[in-house]
Amino acid sequence: MIARVNNVTITTILIILNLIILVHEAKANYPPYGIDFPNGPTGRFTNGRNMADILGELLGFDDYIPPFASAIGREILQGVNYASGSAGIRNETGSHLGNRIFLDLQLQNHHNTILHMVDLVGNRVATNAHLNTCLYIVGIGSNDYINNYLVPKHYSTNSLYTPSQYATLLVQQYAQQLKTLYEDGARKIALFGLPQIGCIPQELQKHNTRKCVDSTNEAIQLFNEKLKSLVTDLNTNFPQAKFTYINMYSISSIMSTLSFLNYPCCNVSTTTAEGQCVSGQAPCHLRAAHVFWDNFHPTENGNVIAIMRAYNSFLPSDSYPMDISHLIQSG
Ligand SMILES: *[C@@H]1O[C@H](CO)[C@@H](O)[C@H](O)[C@H]1NC(C)=O
Ligand SMILES: *[C@@H]1O[C@H](CO)[C@@H](O)[C@H](O)[C@H]1NC(C)=O
Repeated sequence: MIARVNNVTITTILIILNLIILVHEAKANYPPYGIDFPNGPTGRFTNGRNMADILGELLGFDDYIPPFASAIGREILQGVNYASGSAGIRNETGSHLGNRIFLDLQLQNHHNTILHMVDLVGNRVATNAHLNTCLYIVGIGSNDYINNYLVPKHYSTNSLYTPSQYATLLVQQYAQQLKTLYEDGARKIALFGLPQIGCIPQELQKHNTRKCVDSTNEAIQLFNEKLKSLVTDLNTNFPQAKFTYINMYSISSIMSTLSFLNYPCCNVSTTTAEGQCVSGQAPCHLRAAHVFWDNFHPTENGNVIAIMRAYNSFLPSDSYPMDISHLIQSG
C-alpha cells in the first residue's frame, strides 16, 4: 500500500493525534458512536470517520492507519496511530479518567516501532531513510486544558501557574518531545494547534452560557502563539526537517459563528462519562449539519472540514508556513 500524491510517493503516515479528548470511563464502542461508519461502533469518538481516517483517504491510502496496539508485521511500514484517549503533553493529564498513554509513552512506543522496522528493513540507515519520507501528524494539548488546567478539582496546575506560565511550561515540554521525534528520524511534521476549546458544548454547559467562554479561549490562544513560535525555532534549529503549524483555532471558529449548531447531535450523559453520548439513544436527524457529535468531538462532517483545510489551506492563516499538501512535497 503505497500512496501517490501529486507524483510524490508517500510510503507512510505516522500519526500522533490526540486532538480531542477521548474519555476512558466508557469507551466509544457502543451506538450511536459509529452510526455512519461502515463497521459500526469501533471506538472512534464520532458518528463516522475521524480526522486520521479522512487524511489517510486524502493521501490515497487503501486502509485506515492501524492503532499501535494492533499494528503488526509489515503494516508498521505504512503507518501507525499512537493516539490515546485523554492523553496530554504532561504525564498526569487525564489521570482522573483512568489509563492513558501520555506523549512521553507514545514516543517510547514510536521508538519501539522503529526497532521493529530495523528488523524488517534490515538496518538502521535504510530505516532512517524511510522515516525521513514519512509524514508525521501531531495533535496534542487539548487534554492538558480540558482534563487538567480547567479541572482544579483534580489538578493543581491552575493554582500553581497563570495561563501564560502554563502555556510556556507546556510548550517547553512539547519542544523536548518534538526534539526526541526528530532524533528518531521524523523530518516532515505537522503540528496541530488547539481548537476553540472555549466553544465546545461541554464548556458552554459548565459555564451555563450559550456564548464561547472567553477566558478559556484566551488561555488556548497563549498556547497556540507559543507553539507557532516554536515552529519557527524548530525550522531554524533543524534545517533538515520541516515543521508546520496547523491553525485549528481559526479553522474551528466556524463552531462559534454557527452558534445555533453549538450543541451536540447525540443525547449526552450528565452522569458517568459526562458529555459522552448516552448508549443506544437515537441521535439528531441532521447529523451532517452539526459540528459537534457529543460534548467534545466533532461530527464526521466537522472532521472533514477541519482536515481538508489542514491539507489544503482555504485561508492563508490556516497553516504556517505551509499546509500538509505542501509539507508532503517539500524537500
Ligand atoms: C513522565 O513519564 C516518563 C515515562 O515514564 C518519565 O520518563 C518522565 O520522567 C515523566 N515525567 C515527569 C515530569 O514525571
Ligand atoms: C436522553 O437520555 C436520557 C437518559 O437515557 C433519557 O431519559 C432521555 O429521554 C433522552 N432524551 C432524548 C431527547 O432522547
